Amino acid sequence: MTSLLQSQIDRRGSIRTIGVIGMGYVGIPAAVLFADVPQFAKVYGFQRASPSSGYKIEMLNGGKLPLKGEEPGLEDLIKKTVDAGTFHCTADFSKIADCDAVTLAIQTPFANPKDLIPDFRPLEEGLRQTGRYLAEGTLVVLESTITPGTTTGMAREILEEESGLAAGVDFALAHAPERVMVGRLLKNIREHDRIVGGIDDVSTRRAIELYAPVLTLGRIIPMTATAAEVTKTAENALRDLQIAAANQLALHCEAMGVNVYDVRAGVDSLKGDGITRAILWPGAGVGGHCLTKDTWHLERGAQMMGGDLDYPHGADSIFGVARAINDFMPRHMAALTEAGLERAGKSLAGAKVALLGWAFIKNSGDARNTPAEPFYDLMQEAGATVTVHDPYVEDDVGIPVETDFDQVLAGADAVVVFTGHDCYASLDPARVKQVTGHSRPVIVDGRNVLDPDAFIAAGFVYKGIGRGDKNSHPVDG
Ligand SMILES: NC(=O)c1ccc[n+]([C@@H]2O[C@H](COP(=O)([O-])OP(=O)(O)OC[C@H]3O[C@@H](n4cnc5c(N)ncnc54)[C@H](O)[C@@H]3O)[C@@H](O)[C@H]2O)c1
Repeated sequence: MTSLLQSQIDRRGSIRTIGVIGMGYVGIPAAVLFADVPQFAKVYGFQRASPSSGYKIEMLNGGKLPLKGEEPGLEDLIKKTVDAGTFHCTADFSKIADCDAVTLAIQTPFANPKDLIPDFRPLEEGLRQTGRYLAEGTLVVLESTITPGTTTGMAREILEEESGLAAGVDFALAHAPERVMVGRLLKNIREHDRIVGGIDDVSTRRAIELYAPVLTLGRIIPMTATAAEVTKTAENALRDLQIAAANQLALHCEAMGVNVYDVRAGVDSLKGDGITRAILWPGAGVGGHCLTKDTWHLERGAQMMGGDLDYPHGADSIFGVARAINDFMPRHMAALTEAGLERAGKSLAGAKVALLGWAFIKNSGDARNTPAEPFYDLMQEAGATVTVHDPYVEDDVGIPVETDFDQVLAGADAVVVFTGHDCYASLDPARVKQVTGHSRPVIVDGRNVLDPDAFIAAGFVYKGIGRGDKNSHPVDG
């Protein structure tokens, strides 16, 4: 027997007009990829005209990319679809009434991770706008990363309340999380497998109709809406956990006087049927928009849906502990800097520290939740003066970030590499020492991009994450 929802969808016919709400890193590439599919006639990019993001509307309609950084092919595709008349950006949400499918790609940060309360206000507003203009037979898909339980809970409630329609009867509802990385947005959407989870089978099928035409290499993986929410938050929580394991191992190796990179190569070499020892890289800390928050969405979901079940959750779960280890790494960088200065006969109070790299990821200007910030604060609290160098960071990040290398290094008692930008890997020890003007400067390597022996031979006190083999090297005189 055909369900009521299927009858509503059949009356609408195949998907022709699509709305994408939220023109950011996720929404823009998703919208123009839909707009480039021949069977889709029109895509509206809905962007609220807020003081911080309203400028994107005009830029997008002028064929321009309003995001920072390199995104291969994206600006060309915006221009192509704008010129073809298949993509248009607007703040007029009443156009939602014309859409056969509406996706939401709105930010979902945590105001304060400790209390597990996300800031869902922008997403709620987007859902209310969608509900207000929702027509029968429309498909609504949440693409934002959300706490498990949100699609069948908060999203469903808001949409039903605003529209007076029933999910699963009058309209279809699904979660299809984005799995993109900045710098390769188009490629990732086309090539990664697509998780598609409807609140019922009809919703899942309708969502597959929306996403299948965009995929080149990726497959569709159907599941329930809640399983899709857990999948997305779990894949980021697991990555964070793997980094934490490498960081914990690095700290252990430092304690035992061993080089963690030798150990890593050894562990990684064990291959064979049923053996997986994938081991990531240790470092000065984890940053970015997603890894720093998605563990807390997962924990919150388990807490909300798990009720009184007996299990370690929140900060005590293995994922919460992993977050704490990764958050510890900037503090450890501060401890290494202090220990290095002590070996050079100095203390943090009054020292000049040159911090190299403010972006959270190498060769990028993305500084969201950078681990360099807690390190910077710790140095300031200890009475050190910190100068910061980063060739990629252009935005106002609240502290002065310089691009003149010599200016940042001049007079530095300690030089601290926080980001693995390629330009830091080629630092010449003799030249760095000369610019600092000190006979025994300290070098701290948070990303293992430098050769410790070359710096030690040039007269530096060396300290590095995981370099237990070098951190206590002899210091003459
Ligand atoms: N950036 C990534 O690499 C990435 C990867 C995977 C998943 N995600 C997830 O995707 C979601 C979106 O992330 P993003 O990086 O694209 O965010 P973003 O901040 O770049 O973009 C969000 C956009 O939505 C707009 N917006 C907010 N509320 C709105 C409303 N009510 N109506 C219309 N527009 C509204 C904002 O002004 C902004 O332009 C998040 O949940 C994020 O966790 C992001």
